[in-house]
Parts: sequence; structure tokens; C-alpha cells
Amino acid sequence: MRVVAVQDYRALSVAGADAIAEVIGAKPSAAVAVATGNTPLGAYDELAGRHRRGELPTARLRVFQLDDYVGVRPDDPRSLYGWMKRAFVDPLGVPPERVVRLAGDAADPEAACAAYAQAVRGAGGLDLAILGLGLNGHLGFNEPPCDASAPTRVVTLTEESVASSAGYWGSREVVPTRGVTAGMDLLLAARRILLLVSGASKREILRRALLEPPTGALPASHLQRAADVVVLADRAALSEELSGGTLES
Ligand code: F6R
Repeated sequence: MRVVAVQDYRALSVAGADAIAEVIGAKPSAAVAVATGNTPLGAYDELAGRHRRGELPTARLRVFQLDDYVGVRPDDPRSLYGWMKRAFVDPLGVPPERVVRLAGDAADPEAACAAYAQAVRGAGGLDLAILGLGLNGHLGFNEPPCDASAPTRVVTLTEESVASSAGYWGSREVVPTRGVTAGMDLLLAARRILLLVSGASKREILRRALLEPPTGALPASHLQRAADVVVLADRAALSEELSGGTLES
């Protein structure tokens, strides 16, 4: 695992874009799982600029939605699919037929999860998982407690995640209580994982995730056992122990 410290959110966005562009440059048909949330938005903007300038070919990219709410249609303002489309898929010019949804609005969400997992496996696994860190240590909607082998599935959102989502949508009342998420099994098997972390509110959970023994109580701690993890964090998100750089794991 490599921990890369950058000064601030702007630097995080540029470095995040560099890390994503590196994978796409090496493999234009890369299979990439794309987080929503606020943290990666600056990196996606930066990538969109590069795409507009003709510096980032995306016609062959394969995009996999990371998570969504159960019962929320793609045209609903709360849809994470819609968010991913607006923030990543459209500005980067990814052809719609190369985007795999994780359909929380399906009549049978468990079957949609199984179809999604099959699609990831059919693509030969993920080349890159772009992830953010939840205040409760979740990755995607892999809520605690959660094993490293947890499959793509329907989950009940924790109080903390409902509260974070309320920050996106205005109030807790409009936040669904269940979600669908790419499994920890698929994410941890990604050939590269990029975890983007910004701000002092994430400092303590990031420290525990990277430095304390891996535990299901803190899903992001499973990253310690993944093959190729780059943690990009700004100074505000880094405790003193983590500011030094590479962590042996
Ligand atoms: C969103 C997602 C979540 C977020 C996490 C951090 O698709 O999977 O796990 O990455 O909750 O959210 P922000 O970046 O808004 O702090």
C-alpha cells in the first residue's frame, strides 16, 4: 500500500486524475468502478478537462457503478447512477453501452446484484476501483460489519450513512434505508484500488483503517490485505503517523 500525501483538495484532484489517467493510458479498455460522493468530483472534473482537450481517450473504457439506493430510479435526483452519469460518464464521453449499472430499482435487487457481479467477472475483474471513505469506514455501501469476502448485495444503511447521505439530499427523511453495493470481494480483487480521502473529518477513520488490525467493524481496513492500493489523501485527512508515505502491509 502506498499513502500519497498532497497539500489540499485541489492537489488531491489533480493527483487523483493522474492516477486514473495512468490506468486508462496503460489499458484504454480498463474496467473501472466509479465512486460518487463529494471527494472524487474534483478529480472527475480534471479528467473531463483532459478528455475535452483530446488527452484522454475513453471510447473503450468500461465503467461499473459502485453503489446505489434500493428503489431509486436512474432519473430520480437521488440516484447515484444519475450522479455518476453527470459527474463521470457524460463529461468523459464514455459510450452509454459501456456502462454497467447496479440497478437498485430492479424488481429483484438481489438478482440485479448477481447480474452485476457476473458482469464484473465477465469483464475479467476490475482494473481499477475508485473509492471514497465513509465516516463509518464503509467502501461503496459495504457497511460495517462486513467481511473481506462480502459479495455484491443489498445492504441496510447504517445511521451514519443515512446521515451522510442526508448531507447530499437535504434531509434524512428522503434518504432510502437500503442500498446495493459492489461486494468487497470484487473491490479487493481489483488490480488497483485508488482511495481518495479529503478533510479533517476523515482523519481518525483513515488512521484506524490503515494502522489498526483489519476488522469487519471497519470495512476499509480490509484494504491492508489488497494487492495494490494507492491512498491519496490531503494533509487535513492525514494523521501524523500516516504523513510519511509508504506503508508496509
Ligand atoms: C459513493 C460511495 C461512498 C462514498 C463515501 C464518501 O458512491 O460509494 O462510499 O465514497 O461515503 O463520501 P464523500 O466523498 O461524499 O465523503
